[in-house]
Amino acid sequence: MPNLFRKKAVAYDNSEFGLKRCLSALDLTLLGIGAIIGTGIFVLTGIAAATQSGPAVVLSFVVAGLACGFAALSYAELASSVGGCGSAYGYSYAAFGELIAWIIAWDLILEYGVSVAAVANGWSGYFNNALTAIGIGLPDELTKGPFAGGIVNLPAFAIVLGLMVMLIIGIKESARLNNAMVCVKLGTIAIFLAVAIFNIHPANWSPFAPFGWFEHTPEGRPVGILAGASLVFFAYVGFDAVSTAVEEAHDPQRDVPRGLLAALIFCTVIYIVVSGVLTGIVSYTELNVSSPVAFALQKIGFNWASALVAAGVITGLTTVMLVLYYALTRIIVGVSRDGLLPEYYSIVNPKTHTPVRTTVITGSIIAVMSGFIPLGVLAELVNIGTLAAFVLVCAGVIALRITHPDLPRPFKMPGGIILPILGVLSCGALIAFLPFETHLRFIVWLAIGLVIYFAYSIKRSKLAQPDGLKV
Ligand code: ALA
Repeated sequence: MPNLFRKKAVAYDNSEFGLKRCLSALDLTLLGIGAIIGTGIFVLTGIAAATQSGPAVVLSFVVAGLACGFAALSYAELASSVGGCGSAYGYSYAAFGELIAWIIAWDLILEYGVSVAAVANGWSGYFNNALTAIGIGLPDELTKGPFAGGIVNLPAFAIVLGLMVMLIIGIKESARLNNAMVCVKLGTIAIFLAVAIFNIHPANWSPFAPFGWFEHTPEGRPVGILAGASLVFFAYVGFDAVSTAVEEAHDPQRDVPRGLLAALIFCTVIYIVVSGVLTGIVSYTELNVSSPVAFALQKIGFNWASALVAAGVITGLTTVMLVLYYALTRIIVGVSRDGLLPEYYSIVNPKTHTPVRTTVITGSIIAVMSGFIPLGVLAELVNIGTLAAFVLVCAGVIALRITHPDLPRPFKMPGGIILPILGVLSCGALIAFLPFETHLRFIVWLAIGLVIYFAYSIKRSKLAQPDGLKV
């Protein structure tokens, strides 16, 4: 095994830092489903159908799912062979060295941190609707931040703090809560399908692809199935979070690839079925609303089912936040251990076996972001940041197949390097289909990351020291 892998493996295998191995393959799969199914299916499906793809939003989900599938297989191969701290960060470290790994970590911090804050905003809207329905809705000033005419988005702020407490208490406890909430959200989807399937009018599927594969509107906005795929890609964001649980899994080399692939396959099937059924029960033109699934059920006269879906959305979005927030803390712990961020962030509390300081600091920042700052623009960065990480994970498989052909690979992607090449191309294409401004903002984000790296990380890196990591 190459030297770099050995150093990292030793550092991560010992229990000095005290993270506890308590997650089974089922826990990991449910963590994946917890992170994946949320805003994407409950909100974006309708927007993508109405504005980008029409009923062919099903194909947008297939395209985005395929790109994620290539990335997931690459993750699985690297998780089983490189191991380390898991995540695209750890794999890029092994494949490309420190600078690229740092860039990826910086991307993942964007992906996970901003997703949690953005989803907390969506969660707040649904939660306040539920409070209003039972007569105790919050006043407007307490549901919007100061830039949107209010004082604070209190529910968004509070839910992030609540999740912070949960993640401090323990990962097994958090996983239990996640498992229960995942059951609720899957139950909700089952109810939607059971009711909706008997109310499909095939005429709603015609025209099937009113915006074609890829066109531009007169204002220059990209539309069509492929542009829709770049948008609904958000629905898949989070499956990679499973890979950050390497140090807390019972048998990471076996269970992480399994959990990751099982969660992705399961969710892709659900997305295809739900989006197909949704566009079959009402016209896609009516779906540009904040809660298209609940709206469609109301429209066909099932108000009770619509209320249940709202409950499912609230629990669904809670699990998304919980798992992405968890993944964020584990990435920061890994990066900090390697010296690229201050060591302070990797200290694990001996009682709870959780990184309490990192959890509190990141949770406080996310709570403030979600309570006070408008996030629309930042949220758009999540897809591009995630896609860039996927491109590098796929490229990492190719690089390691060439530089270390004899590395033991308990899970190996079939077909040589064809599938990872397809992963690079498909994720790269989805990046290309995103609006130009998103590319510009992403470049600014990367530039900030590079400044931090050259001003701080490069001098403190432990792997750059002659004696490698302290173990
Ligand atoms: N995939 C997650 C969602 O759709 C981020 O909410």
